[in-house]
Amino acid sequence: MLRVRDLGVEVGGRLVVESATFTVLPRDKVGLVGRNGAGKTSLLRTLGGELEPAGGRVERPADFGYLPQDPRIGKDLEGRTPVTHVLSGRGIDVELERIEKLRIAMEERPDERNVERYTRAEEHFRTIGGYAAESEARRLMAGLGLSDNRTELPIGVLSGGERRRVELARILYGGSEVLCLDEPTNHLDVEARDWLLEFLRGYRGALVVVSHDLELLDEAITRVLHLDRPSEAASGHLVEYRGTYSQYVAARAEDERRLARQAM
Ligand SMILES: Nc1ncnc2c1ncn2[C@@H]1O[C@H](COP(=O)(O)OP(=O)(O)OP(=O)(O)O)[C@@H](O)[C@H]1O
Ligand SMILES: [Mg+2]
Repeated sequence: MLRVRDLGVEVGGRLVVESATFTVLPRDKVGLVGRNGAGKTSLLRTLGGELEPAGGRVERPADFGYLPQDPRIGKDLEGRTPVTHVLSGRGIDVELERIEKLRIAMEERPDERNVERYTRAEEHFRTIGGYAAESEARRLMAGLGLSDNRTELPIGVLSGGERRRVELARILYGGSEVLCLDEPTNHLDVEARDWLLEFLRGYRGALVVVSHDLELLDEAITRVLHLDRPSEAASGHLVEYRGTYSQYVAARAEDERRLARQAM
């Protein structure tokens, strides 16, 4: 569950979100919409803990999956493979790296001690479900369109788009109870996008998603938070609409007509 109370989000001295209060319950699927530059990414960064709130508070669970609009995989991680990186979503990477080191040691010096250490580590990996985890990680990456022959290369040689897919796979693999995704279908081809939609259909946790993909919004969400910030100089406010994205568009149009009539 994600609980937001009286939250303020400030960017460049402007309150792009002013005193927002909302709760995202398990199974809630929330679409966050608003014009370009309204402050959706800044709000999500605050929910994800990347940006300090200007006021109020965010209570998020310990296992929380956050995909930034422009995710970066740290320089220090460029040597690891996509498989290892995705497995790090559940801490299994540590075990994988351990047996990899022991395997290399065994190959360099195949004495009794090294063979035994490797064998024991490999057995442990099997017992904790490491191999099943590895095939699950590969399944997610394949679904997101990362070809199989790229999953064992160092991350450093992957393109920006490939890294983004690896990062998304890691977050989906993490199995968090709350997912916050900032434009997750950007840079995905049609097949990968359809795969992601199918994944989100089956996802049982809570979801907050920013997207311009109308089909995703209509299929994947049950509630809309509209970040209303009419101009660069104005503060932003969250307005909530129940229902699918299409229902939100109709309700919003009605609200705007009513406001226009009141202004006359
Ligand atoms: N690092 C920054 N420093 C100063 N201003 C910023 C910074 N990042 C974003 N902004 C400004 O803050 C406002 C909100 O930007 P944000 O990226 O949160 O909007 P958005 O709704 O996600 O937009 P988009 O739909 O284009 O992704 C914009 O006016 C933007 O120009
Ligand atoms: Mg954005």
